[in-house]
Amino acid sequence: MQIQKLGVVGAGQMGNGIAQVAAANGLQVLIYDITQPALDKAMQTITSSCDRLIKKSAITEAQKTEILSRIKTTTSMQDLAPVNMVVEAATENLQIKLEIFKKLDEIVNKDALLCTNTSSISITKIAAATARPDKVAGMHFMNPVPIMQLVEGIRGLQTSDETFKAVRILAEKMGKTFIEGRDMPGFIVNRILMPMINEACYALYEGIAEVEGIDQAMKLGTNQPMGPLTLADFIGLDTCLAIMQVLHDGLGDTKYRPCPLLVKYVEAGWLGRKSGRGFYKY
Ligand code: CAA
Repeated sequence: MQIQKLGVVGAGQMGNGIAQVAAANGLQVLIYDITQPALDKAMQTITSSCDRLIKKSAITEAQKTEILSRIKTTTSMQDLAPVNMVVEAATENLQIKLEIFKKLDEIVNKDALLCTNTSSISITKIAAATARPDKVAGMHFMNPVPIMQLVEGIRGLQTSDETFKAVRILAEKMGKTFIEGRDMPGFIVNRILMPMINEACYALYEGIAEVEGIDQAMKLGTNQPMGPLTLADFIGLDTCLAIMQVLHDGLGDTKYRPCPLLVKYVEAGWLGRKSGRGFYKY
């Protein structure tokens, strides 16, 4: 199946990045979110991301204009009816995703593929909320989408070969490296990354070092571009906690117990960059 018209559900940091990269590679994109301010913010983020790429001569002004012209926004999910594929990038919450996929299945034309950018949740479970589980797959992008090379591809139990091939082709058309992972909690990246971030939270919680010391040690000691607590703030502490809970519940091993400090920060609304305060103040 040739994907020309892409629907993106969710205008947050992942959704707007996916929309930008798809548009930069020739697709017509329609971003859906429930509120107009969220969509307006997404278009501002895409515009400033394009400006950063122009500054480093990665794209031209003309390409920026083309990219923006290919992206439309809507607060009516009904407008997604004619797209060839949807990528859902809403909150990392199973119930919300199941509701979204049930609605998408009713609205979007029957030939369309319904993908999810979920960081960790069972593709098989999400697909079972639809009458087209063969057309559902995981297409997991990394943050920030315009910069990170990886897309993890995840098959649900009923994902067809044709669907998975179309997802791979689209990821590669978007300039990404597509790596397949099994439909297990956390897939590849977050099965490994999130426990590391959780351990960094425990290091802080147990007073092994301060926030800056933990991040500097990991940057200078392992050459990571961001320390784990900076990265957690970047991803969102609520997302990090949600993924740890999926690992803990899905794998049934206490080693995935979310750090109590992470739980406390999320309870306080300290979600990282997006809320102005996480392990750092912004
Ligand atoms: N759009 C366009 N360009 C961007 C950008 C964006 N959104 N973000 C950064 N850049 C560009 C900058 O223009 C800059 O370009 P030059 O180096 O050529 O000047 C470059 O990327 C570096 O940006 P910064 O100078 O702002 O800062 P940095 O050097 O620290 O890079 C970063 C930023 C690319 C995010 C880097 O810190 C990094 O790679 N961090 C790790 C990110 C990561 O691990 N992501 C995966 C998390 S896991 C996940 O996402 C999945 C999940 O399910 C949670």
